[in-house]
Amino acid sequence: MSHIPVLLHEALTALCIQHDGVYLDCTFGRGGHSRAILTELGANGRLIGFDRDPSAVAVARDLAQEDPRFEIVHTAFSELETALDSLAVSRVHGILMDLGVSSPQLDEAERGFSFQADGPLDMRMDPTTGESAADWIARADADEIAHVLWVFGEERFSRRIARAIVEARQLTPIVTTTQLSQIVTSAQPKKDQNKHPATRSFQGIRLYINGELTEVEQGLEAAMNRLEVGGRLAVISFHSLEDRLVKRALRDASRPPKGDPRMPLPDSVAQPKLKLVGKAIKASPDELRLNPRARSAVLRIAERTEAA
Ligand SMILES: C[S@@+](CC[C@H](N)C(=O)[O-])C[C@H]1O[C@@H](n2cnc3c(N)ncnc32)[C@H](O)[C@@H]1O
Repeated sequence: MSHIPVLLHEALTALCIQHDGVYLDCTFGRGGHSRAILTELGANGRLIGFDRDPSAVAVARDLAQEDPRFEIVHTAFSELETALDSLAVSRVHGILMDLGVSSPQLDEAERGFSFQADGPLDMRMDPTTGESAADWIARADADEIAHVLWVFGEERFSRRIARAIVEARQLTPIVTTTQLSQIVTSAQPKKDQNKHPATRSFQGIRLYINGELTEVEQGLEAAMNRLEVGGRLAVISFHSLEDRLVKRALRDASRPPKGDPRMPLPDSVAQPKLKLVGKAIKASPDELRLNPRARSAVLRIAERTEAA
């Protein structure tokens, strides 16, 4: 199953690729962006890929066999600095983050991400570690479930749905996506015409199970630390919670750090780490015609300054 890379041309332009540079694709997926970066790199260029999903890493290993300029690390991008240290790379010339899930993750029922396909209720991007959605649903109390649905799913009927989940699991364990989807759907007092009733709940549980927002916060911080001066950071997000985080992190890093006005900071500390590049970019009508999944994608770009 394939994944159509989103905002491909825009992301490549954002990275301003130098032939001999070292680049980092934090979210290899099926390698759409990585392959495009490799076409712009010269023989001495280098591309490092990360992904926390073993199926993505398997695809990347094949690419690494074919192309000596590319290597893959199975890691979450919150571990970016440790992973670069393990490769003895101190700084890179550009970093791409294409956040969220890939089409194969959504389409393969056995990954348990989709309310439209019956599969085990898993939802882990890396099934080799952490707690599955089924295990969490089995142990969390109603308040915790409601909190996750509300905060990460922005589900306004979070309490009602959480109560329905707790009642249902007393009768039978909730172990499949279809079971959860049916419970959520029956608990919704009002249906949104344009959205499946389980959309928000599944999104909330997925973000929680994978710690996605914390990953983004930590990954962005680490990325800023490891960019060469003048190096570009390009981040594509797919929903408002993610984009808000990205927008705020890049904006904060592009403002001079706040200090005590009576104690002027040394020049090296007073400089912001990043400079914002342009405005947020969305997919063109042509791209949307070919790939409706690009509908909610937002690309934000920043450049590393000389700050220490
Ligand atoms: C939207 S897809 C990337 C698609 C890719 N750009 C392409 O063109 O094929 C997101 C990928 O990032 C991975 N991912 C998401 N969060 C991650 C994280 N915190 N650390 C590492 N990989 C992550 C997912 O497993 C998924 O494979």
